[in-house]
Amino acid sequence: MPTLSSRAGRATLALLMLTLSALAIIVASIPTPGRAADPVTVLTSDFEDGTTQSWAMRGTAEVVENSTAAAHAGSRSLLTSGRTASWNGPSRDLLATVTRGTRYTYAVWARAAAGAGSVQLRMSVERRWQGTASYEQVVNSTTVTDGGWTQLTGGYTLANDADFFAVYVETVSGTASFHLDDFSLSYLPPSPIQTGIPSLKTVFANDFPIGAAVGRPQLLAERGQLLAKHFNSVTAGNAMKWDATEPTEGVFTYTDADAIVAFARANAMKVRGHTFVWHNQTPAWVFNDANGQPMTATAANKTLLLARLEAHIRAVGGRYANDVSAWDVVNEVIDENQSDGLRRSTWYTITGLDYIRTAFRVARQVAPNAKLFINDYNTNVAAKRDKLYHLVAQLKAEGVPVDGVGHQQHGNISWPTGAETDAMIAAFLPLGVEQQITEMDTSIYTSSSESFTTPPADRLASQAARYKAWFDVYRRYKANITSVTLWGLADDETWLDSYPVSRKDFPLLFDVQLQAKPAYWAVIGAASPTATGPASPSASASASPSPSASRSPSASPSAPSSPSPSASRSPSASPSASVPPSPSGSATPVSCRVKYTVTNQWNTGFQGDVVVTNTGSAAVSGWSLRWTFANGQVVNQSWSSAYAQSGANVTITNATWNAAIAANGGTASFGFLSTWTGTNTVPSTFTLNGTTCLQG
Ligand code: XIL
Repeated sequence: MPTLSSRAGRATLALLMLTLSALAIIVASIPTPGRAADPVTVLTSDFEDGTTQSWAMRGTAEVVENSTAAAHAGSRSLLTSGRTASWNGPSRDLLATVTRGTRYTYAVWARAAAGAGSVQLRMSVERRWQGTASYEQVVNSTTVTDGGWTQLTGGYTLANDADFFAVYVETVSGTASFHLDDFSLSYLPPSPIQTGIPSLKTVFANDFPIGAAVGRPQLLAERGQLLAKHFNSVTAGNAMKWDATEPTEGVFTYTDADAIVAFARANAMKVRGHTFVWHNQTPAWVFNDANGQPMTATAANKTLLLARLEAHIRAVGGRYANDVSAWDVVNEVIDENQSDGLRRSTWYTITGLDYIRTAFRVARQVAPNAKLFINDYNTNVAAKRDKLYHLVAQLKAEGVPVDGVGHQQHGNISWPTGAETDAMIAAFLPLGVEQQITEMDTSIYTSSSESFTTPPADRLASQAARYKAWFDVYRRYKANITSVTLWGLADDETWLDSYPVSRKDFPLLFDVQLQAKPAYWAVIGAASPTATGPASPSASASASPSPSASRSPSASPSAPSSPSPSASRSPSASPSASVPPSPSGSATPVSCRVKYTVTNQWNTGFQGDVVVTNTGSAAVSGWSLRWTFANGQVVNQSWSSAYAQSGANVTITNATWNAAIAANGGTASFGFLSTWTGTNTVPSTFTLNGTTCLQG
């Protein structure tokens, strides 16, 4: 019976955790080595007792029974046969088993019954609330055969109210018989979020709002805390799309969208509306003619389709008129391979450009306070952005109320470059429109054939550099960029887990346990030097040791085991441990200037921001900055750098992405948190690679 961890292993680990926690409490000032997260299995079904172990049929005709005809382990499995529809299959009630807001891994082994050949299976959940059922897929279509066992595995969080909740397995089509065995339901115990690290929204307060795309799971428990701490803008990843809001003509469902908007209101966040018009996630009825048949390009169908569009935008846009500050009115309408640059969607084939004109006109009427955007991907590709530019120019010339261009910015660790991102923004400046980054993420993969279950350290470092390069560009254009949104909150849940292929991806700033990744620290380093750090002393003061001090970030394999021994306390996960220090540069004499600013100070601690300028004519590649504190201050956290302290002597070493400082005025910036008592004087001398720097 394969479970995600053995009982003995868990017991040993529990003991180790207990010991580590005790140590952490006794010696709170010394960072203790971390524990690896250990999944907790809450339910298994191995069918070895000869019963169906509470699995039951969903239909009325099929037979769900214990079987000795095949077994993944042991001698028994669960066989489903006699099916008369593809949805007939075995189901297990989990209402009393799962906790709302916890993300579980659902895993089961499957094989087609003897003689059934190859069959496509999928795993889903059914939840009901007050008589209304919803079905959500947990594992995509997976091919299983009668020649061996295949594991289906996926994650799901129950976030909605439910009075019925069950998992089930069905065929994508057909009625083949199949076996299941060794089902398991497990979860990673949630980690407390790091409360002592700078909030993204505060760090970028002088630049632009920072957003995340979310669903209801991201509003709950630790994920909700992470969302509220770092983000001041939110986009519904799916909940405002047509299939979610108007699945049947004239029948509107707002449960999930309302929950997201309520969270945003409660936490003073902006809301980006996504999206009125798209060729995906639009129910089939929208494109059916008056007789229920797929529309052909006739005048009557054009009138019908535009009327449906108008009614939809009036309802959804009107409902959120006081909440949504920017709408993606149309999404992905460009196809650079068409001579006119317009995607041949059903919208286009039935209405030409009129669906875009209608959508913007109606959106402006019902949501006059929202900025109206045209949103697309690959806008960093010259051919595509040229077509988009042309379309926006035409629409504006016609008086269509387009306020801005949304750049999705779905990229990966090597693409697009900072220069390409710069060109993407620069290209639209002549139009005088607002620009927003609407869906950014950075896959750790550069090809569909790669797959990792944990992200390698070098990929995380490349990812950090890529994020940094993009944010550097955004900050440069902050006069034109009015919002930056990440397409997700943390790596525990990302659309890239199933796109373009099914495999785990790690594209965001926080890891699967919601802890800050190297990419987060790189992004923090890209903030405007003038931006302030932690929002308030009380927020900063929470950097003091917490039970989570015994944990190190799970996704930072390169983390050194312990920072400076003289550090008087450790934040919940030492950021300096997330930043692989580069070797400092040669001792080549440099010419430098250091601006050291105390950006925030409270009774026991302060935040310092430092800008190092290379005033020499030779580039610096790798650096160490040293100073001596006069009043017993002790650094306990740094970002965009690694720190060490011996007595009063502090050494700050570059992070990988700011190792190079260009000649003649290039700069590197970093920040730190430190203790102080009594007096907090600015150090009198700073040396860069051994050379004393000017100050100011
Ligand atoms: C994605 C969602 O994140 C997924 O959950 C869903 O299954 C598919 O759509 N470009 C867009 C977004 O404009 O709406 C897409 O969101 C990601 C690509």
